[in-house]
Amino acid sequence: MRIGVCSDHAGFEYKDRIISYLLGKGYDVVNYGTDSTESCDYPDFAHALGSAIDNGDVDCGIALCGTGNGMAMTLNKHAGVRAALAWGVALASLAKEHNNANVLVLPARFISYRMALACIRSWLAAAFAAGRHQRRIQKI
Ligand code: RB5
Repeated sequence: MRIGVCSDHAGFEYKDRIISYLLGKGYDVVNYGTDSTESCDYPDFAHALGSAIDNGDVDCGIALCGTGNGMAMTLNKHAGVRAALAWGVALASLAKEHNNANVLVLPARFISYRMALACIRSWLAAAFAAGRHQRRIQKI
């Protein structure tokens, strides 16, 4: 599975560690920046990941900013993206089970790194439940 990852400056440090974690687990990872803690604009990186999902360059993505809201708002402008904000493991797994979220968005300033990893593991391990949920996401 090829996973695209992006952040702004607020999410950079977690993103860097998440990339190492995912590579260590054998995932193919594409980094869409940012690559420092220098202040930057989250839409620049969210659009890069969103376009990669629209184009099929990556299968899914993980995005981080301070609150997660800017990343989620921008990513969800892309037709092929269903980006879900999660700050706990149940939210992360339900984002896949009920919404088939193909991007997990994490609020780096509001959760520990340990929780960020737990959310990622939970989201990656979950499966879309389909059925009534398929009908609902088609209505989006
Ligand atoms: C950056 O200060 C902050 O606004 C950004 O990371 C994010 O929280 C926006 O939604």
